[in-house]
Amino acid sequence: MADSPEQRAYAEELDAGDPLAPFRDRFELTDPHLIYLNGNSLGALPKATAKRIGQLVREEWGTALARSWEHWTALPRRAGDAVGVLLGAAPGQVVVGDSTTVNLYKLACAALGEFPGRNVIVTDDDNFPSDRYVLEGIAAKHGYELRMIRTDMNEGISAQAVREAVDSRTALVSLSHVSYRSGAIADMAGITRIAHDSGALILWDLCHSAGAVEAGLDAAGADLAVGCSYKYLDAGPGSPAFLYVAHALQDRLSQPIWGWFGQRDQFAMGPGYDPAPGIGQFLTGTPQIIGVASVEEGARLLAEAGVGRIREKGIRLTSYLVSLADAWLAPLGVSLASPRDPARRGSHVTLSHPQAQRIVQDLAKANVITDYRTPDRFRFGLAALTTRFTDVWDAIDRTRHILHDLSERDVAPPPATASA
Ligand SMILES: Cc1ncc(COP(=O)(O)O)c(C=O)c1O
Repeated sequence: MADSPEQRAYAEELDAGDPLAPFRDRFELTDPHLIYLNGNSLGALPKATAKRIGQLVREEWGTALARSWEHWTALPRRAGDAVGVLLGAAPGQVVVGDSTTVNLYKLACAALGEFPGRNVIVTDDDNFPSDRYVLEGIAAKHGYELRMIRTDMNEGISAQAVREAVDSRTALVSLSHVSYRSGAIADMAGITRIAHDSGALILWDLCHSAGAVEAGLDAAGADLAVGCSYKYLDAGPGSPAFLYVAHALQDRLSQPIWGWFGQRDQFAMGPGYDPAPGIGQFLTGTPQIIGVASVEEGARLLAEAGVGRIREKGIRLTSYLVSLADAWLAPLGVSLASPRDPARRGSHVTLSHPQAQRIVQDLAKANVITDYRTPDRFRFGLAALTTRFTDVWDAIDRTRHILHDLSERDVAPPPATASA
C-alpha cells in the first residue's frame, strides 16, 4: 500500500481499483506515451464508432444508397433519446442536429416568441463566447436588452446573481450549466426556479456537462437546452449538437428556421410550412447522418458505463488533481481557478499562472495535451472513461518540472549578445 497520494504507486492503486478502468480499452488510444487531458475539447474515438461509421459508409451509403433514408430519417430522434438518457430527459425531448451555436439561436428565438411584451435577455459575462454573441445578435436585431451578469471567473454563476438580474421584463435566461473556463457548476434547479418565478424561460448550455455530470433536466424543470457532442460524448470533430425542449413547450414554441425536416408531412412538398408535432419541428435541414450515428454510439457507450459512475469518477479524478496541484504547484505560483468544492466542479480543473500559455506548450512537448484559456489559465479535461489516475499524477509531475525549468530560466542571466 502506498502511504501518500504523492507517490505514483498510490495512483496505480487507484487505477487498479477503478471499476471504469476497462472502458479505456473500448477506445482507439494508440499512442502509449500520450497523456490526453483534452477530452473536454475533443473526446477520444470509441472503437464501436469507428466500426459503425465504416459500416455506415460502406453498406448503408455505398451499397444501399438513398434507400437508407428509410431508416436514416429516424436517426436524429433516436440519437436524441440516447443522449437524453445522459441528461435526465425522458424520451421524445432531445434531437441531434446542427451545431450548438445554431441550436442556441433556434431555441432562444423560439423562447422569445412566447413573450411579445417582455424585452430582456439575461446571460453572464463568463458564458461561452458563441452563446453571448448569438444573444447579442438577437438583441441587436430584434430590439431586446441583453443584461449581462458579472460572474466570478473561478466560482461561476450564482443563483443570487440571477435573482438580482431578472424582473418582470425578462423573457429568457440563458446560461451554461458547467463553465467552459473554470468548470464551475451552476445550480440548475435553483436558477431554473428563479427564472420561472420571474415568468421567464430558461435555456441551458450543456456542452461541458453532457457525458460528464448529471444534468437532470426533467427533474430541474428546465425548459430548453443545447450542447455539443464532440467533447465528453466522444462523437468526433464537428459532430452535430443536440437540443432539448421540454414536452410541455414543444407545441407551444415556434423555432425560427422553418426547414423541410421540421415539416409535418415532409414529402408532400406542400406550399406552406406546417410544423411537425413534438420535438420534430426543431429539426431544420438534412441531418449529417454520419455524425449523428457517431453521437448515438458515443452516448450508448457512456450510458453503458452509467452517468452516476462517470460523475463519481470525475469527482475523484479532479479531486486527486487538485490535491497534487496544492502540494506541488501552489508553491511554484500556480493557483486553483476552479471551485474547490468537488460538488461545484465539473470534470475539468483549471489552474492559473502568468505563464499558462507557455506551460501548455511545454506540456505538449512532454506528451501531455491540455489547453490554454484566457487570461492566464490552463485546463485539464478529465474524461472518466479514458483518463487514469496515473495520467493525472504524470501530468502534474511534468507540470512541476516545467515550472521549475521556467523559474530557473527566469533567474538565469539573458544570453550574451554581440556588442559593437
Ligand atoms: C460551452 C460551449 N458552448 C458553445 C460552444 C460552441 O459550439 P459549436 O461550435 O458546436 O457551435 C462550445 C464549443 O466548444 C462550448 O464549449
